[in-house]
Amino acid sequence: KNIAVFISGGGSNMRAVHAACETGEIHGQISLVVTSSYNAGGVEWAMDRDVPVLLYPGGKDLEESERISPSELNEFLKNEYKIDVVLLAGYLRLIPPELCRTFENKMLNIHPALLPAFGGRGMHGAKVHEAVVNSGARFTGPTVHFVNENFDEGKIVAQRIIGIDPSWTAEEVARRVLKEEHEVFPEVVAALCDDRIEFRETDGVGVIIDK
Ligand code: GRF
Repeated sequence: KNIAVFISGGGSNMRAVHAACETGEIHGQISLVVTSSYNAGGVEWAMDRDVPVLLYPGGKDLEESERISPSELNEFLKNEYKIDVVLLAGYLRLIPPELCRTFENKMLNIHPALLPAFGGRGMHGAKVHEAVVNSGARFTGPTVHFVNENFDEGKIVAQRIIGIDPSWTAEEVARRVLKEEHEVFPEVVAALCDDRIEFRETDGVGVIIDK
């Protein structure tokens, strides 16, 4: 399967997915990287590997004519790069609704807390972990879910639960959650690439099945 990864930051989840493609755990390869900024750490990594990088939506310094429109992005993914699976791995910008429709049940996001808690607009990065720690929550962990038109509201496929030691800072929690992300995200991507995700009728939760 052809995988497109959307990033805005370091891209450590992208690298974890790439590693799983290399070992054969994931039957696919990263064919395209979409970034909201050329300064994102993962961009250099992609370029070093000759993976094409697309800037979307592009900064204010871009002329209108240089910008990619939502429908052009859709075209690029579907027809030019023949993308089967889209992964949001720390991408901080809005996904155009038409992309959500094109890749319905084919687009995954990783969120660093146990959704539906600690999610939604503006809840990303360090803010999430600070909110978790300040709430006194005893457990946290990453959530992998399908993407729909509302932030962090798509169908959940997997969560990893880790206990929080009350002495931990938000940074410590972030570090531990990220470690779990690097395991659970490739696992779900592998299942999606193999069509091994089914939806429970009662609540729409995605369940990974063995084939
Ligand atoms: C991760 O914590 C992910 O859950 C969140 O953004 C972060 C991305 O980290 N959506 P990286 O760019 O994959 O290192």
